[in-house]
Amino acid sequence: MNQLPNRVVNVYEDSSMKNDELFPLRVASGNRFCNREKERKLLKELFRQKRPTVLISPRRYGKTSLAYKVTEELKYPFCVIDFLTAYNDESICACIVKGVSELVSKIMPTNLKTVQLLEKCFYGVKVSILSKFIELEFTSPVEKIDPVRQVLEVLKGLETLAGKLNKIVVVFIDEFQRVLETERGDAIQGSIRSIAQLTQNIAFLFSGSSRHMLSQAFDDSNQPLYMMCEKIFLGRIAAQDYVPYIQEAAKIHWNQELHLTEIDRIVELSEEHPFYVNFLCSKLWQKDIPPLDTNAVDAGWQECFVSEERRLIEELDKLTIAQRSILKEIAHTPNLNAPTATHFLHKVKMSSGTVTPILKSLEKKDMIYVDPKGITRLLDPLMKYMLVMN
Ligand SMILES: Nc1ncnc2c1ncn2[C@@H]1O[C@H](COP(=O)(O)OP(=O)(O)OP(=O)(O)O)[C@@H](O)[C@H]1O
Ligand SMILES: [Mg+2]
Repeated sequence: MNQLPNRVVNVYEDSSMKNDELFPLRVASGNRFCNREKERKLLKELFRQKRPTVLISPRRYGKTSLAYKVTEELKYPFCVIDFLTAYNDESICACIVKGVSELVSKIMPTNLKTVQLLEKCFYGVKVSILSKFIELEFTSPVEKIDPVRQVLEVLKGLETLAGKLNKIVVVFIDEFQRVLETERGDAIQGSIRSIAQLTQNIAFLFSGSSRHMLSQAFDDSNQPLYMMCEKIFLGRIAAQDYVPYIQEAAKIHWNQELHLTEIDRIVELSEEHPFYVNFLCSKLWQKDIPPLDTNAVDAGWQECFVSEERRLIEELDKLTIAQRSILKEIAHTPNLNAPTATHFLHKVKMSSGTVTPILKSLEKKDMIYVDPKGITRLLDPLMKYMLVMN
């Protein structure tokens, strides 16, 4: 869903917003970033300490937004290296070299002195300047053909350069789990580890949309990055924090606040899921008048459903019949705190021996989760809406 190009983000740009950005469907930034006070404080502190960190949450909860927000606030130079489209060692390495080149382009002037300095810091690298962009390219015979060495040298070079400039820089690697799938992924992680464990100037942040695979990279004692990182688990954003966020947008768009009943309904339908709160509000904020009752909010939710129905059906189609029927029963059962208790088993007409592994597989697929109160719920509130409606 959220495909970010490899880039250095200029998060210090004017953040004045247009109405259609009141509820961003991609990265939330500036004034349209809601709360996350605790997580922001923690991540800032970890960046300051240069402690490698991994951000973990289900999809569309706001990992990327949080990373951007914190870097914006700290004003640290920042590069986003996205492994989304990287499928082998060479493309993983190319992403890292490109990300570091972009970061260097942001912090260095483009002149001959820079070229000389960079060629001293980055071993085996030829530096060229194309308009305002600095390109690092490995030309030494060994590094040229070895992605593992390139990753090591390019990060080592960045560390040396940032040290000379006395700067902290942030390297944010998104969709990091891709590195687990490549032939020499272990060795590439080893290169990252060797820099991350000693760095004085680079704050590494890792994230990805597959929680299961991320935990394989960071929790498995056979993996190079085992126990290397601090972990931040992102949850949903509390209803009370959404009230000022939504009211602010109502004042900007309609010059008036909403009744709390309608805000409650927005948060109830979207279940405090950051993407869905914005998705529903973006539909409601397309109207000339604010939602004047809960029916108007419900109509907006139905619009969301219509535009997402095909995707939801495709997601359901990927499940087995047993998985689907358990998912449907969970959608129909409020306050489900014991999905293997007799009452629920009776409803799904299955034994606990059958239900237990299905629950595990649904959780691994991020179709269900256990909320902080211990209630088993569907992760996607629109999926729940579809199953309950049917
Ligand atoms: N703190 C926030 N305030 C307002 N909206 C937010 C916040 N965090 C996330 N969102 C919204 O939630 C959605 C998902 O955000 P984002 O892309 O940052 O999540 P993600 O976890 O990185 O997603 P993915 O797993 O797909 O990479 C976007 O619509 C974004 O605008
Ligand atoms: Mg993201």
